Amino acid sequence: MKAAANKSKILIVGDDKQIRWSFGAALLDAGYEVEVARQIGEASEIISRVKPHILLLDLDLAKDSAIDLMHTLRDDSADTRALLLHTGGPSSVATECVKMGAVRAFQKPLAPKKILPVIHDLLADSEIRKMAKKAEPIVIGNRETDRFILGADSKMRDIFNIVERVAASPRSTILIDGESGVGKELIAKAIHHSTKTKKGPFIEINCGSLPGNLLESELFGHEKGSFTDAKSRKKGLIEIADGGTLFLDEIGEMPIGLQAVLLRVIETKRFKRVGGTEDVEVDLRFVAATNQNLKEAVAEKRFRKDLYYRLNVVPIHVPPLRERIQDIPILATYFIDMFNRELSRQIRGLSPTARARLQEYDWPGNVRELRNVIERAILLESDDLILLEHLPLEISAGLREDHLPVEKEEEEFTPIPLSEAERRQILKTIEWARGNKTKAARTLGISRQTLREKLRQYEAK
Ligand SMILES: Nc1ncnc2c1ncn2[C@@H]1O[C@H](COP(=O)(O)OP(=O)(O)OP(=O)(O)O)[C@@H](O)[C@H]1O
Ligand SMILES: [Mg+2]
Repeated sequence: MKAAANKSKILIVGDDKQIRWSFGAALLDAGYEVEVARQIGEASEIISRVKPHILLLDLDLAKDSAIDLMHTLRDDSADTRALLLHTGGPSSVATECVKMGAVRAFQKPLAPKKILPVIHDLLADSEIRKMAKKAEPIVIGNRETDRFILGADSKMRDIFNIVERVAASPRSTILIDGESGVGKELIAKAIHHSTKTKKGPFIEINCGSLPGNLLESELFGHEKGSFTDAKSRKKGLIEIADGGTLFLDEIGEMPIGLQAVLLRVIETKRFKRVGGTEDVEVDLRFVAATNQNLKEAVAEKRFRKDLYYRLNVVPIHVPPLRERIQDIPILATYFIDMFNRELSRQIRGLSPTARARLQEYDWPGNVRELRNVIERAILLESDDLILLEHLPLEISAGLREDHLPVEKEEEEFTPIPLSEAERRQILKTIEWARGNKTKAARTLGISRQTLREKLRQYEAK
């Protein structure tokens, strides 16, 4: 059963001819390349040679050797994802295989078409992992640290190109704008660290955090005796950042009076300390950031037009996360790996439905919010996959993974009385609403009172 190269490869292992043929045919029909093996020895040889993307292993074959095969998989083809088929209730072999990395175990009998969406999602997920590994356009410091920017969306690639280009001109001023949490500070640091000729540090100041006179002395420093508390001369941040980068965060909050002084420093690279008469010369890069619309601020005379144009020499607009949904699973996978290491966990990834929801959500807090969502899920949940119900309510919208519409198989029809159907529907809805009876009643289209009565009747039975 062979088809053209470069398709995803699936190996089916089992001694039940019926299984091999029915699953093999369905997978071939779906466009996959399929290999089959009747025994473990044959399967091991295929795994080493072909390195299949997916292994479909029928545990009824030879239970003990199934574990051997999982070892082979781990040693020879670590990227292969294993799915198990088994008969009967919980089995220790299945549990052991899952511990060794098998993704899921399915009970037989199972219609081949049930497994198709699972395989499809697994392959999509491994593609994303590969992309996450490849999409490392800029690495600042090493991957273990915070100073690592990831992005695959073309808008982010444009930004990375700008960062590379401005690295060659250590004096040019840059204005970064974008919503809160999009990564403005990270980009400012990236610019600093990629500037090869830099000799000084990266210094940041939030222009909205201090009243005008304090901000002035913080930026420019002061001479001894320049005001009551000035017992000695103090260097300002501009001087400290000499040779490096001064990151002016929330530039839109800077008092208008100070804006004129700042403009002069940017233009002349000279300034006077507060209370000083001498000019101090510096050589540094200014990077400013804002989450306001500075053009509007200029129109409303809250921000100096000349300073705006001076800062805006190289503008960088960082798009919100909802406008680069391709980056969402990549960033999520990166954060999963990061928090796995930090919290000593082994979460394998996102369930397909959780991933889909993350891509639909509008992320008002952008990448910072995504990072927090992943950290929370990894910290609080014990499953080895992040499921829909591990996400905060505003994202999951109260849905649970096991209540989502699944691939419908024509289930065998078992006639039951209408009252029993009603009872099952009511109890399932309450479970779905996580015990919230008001919500359950509303969903069922009955009053809370009616719901309560029905529950009383069921209890009485
Ligand atoms: N592309 C990215 N790759 C990896 N991590 C990112 C990326 N973008 C943002 N982050 C992470 O998201 C968080 C927020 O980023 P950052 O502080 O740079 O945002 P910001 O735009 O400066 O936000 P604010 O406007 O609130 O100051 C940080 O933890 C940062 O490491
Ligand atoms: Mg910031």
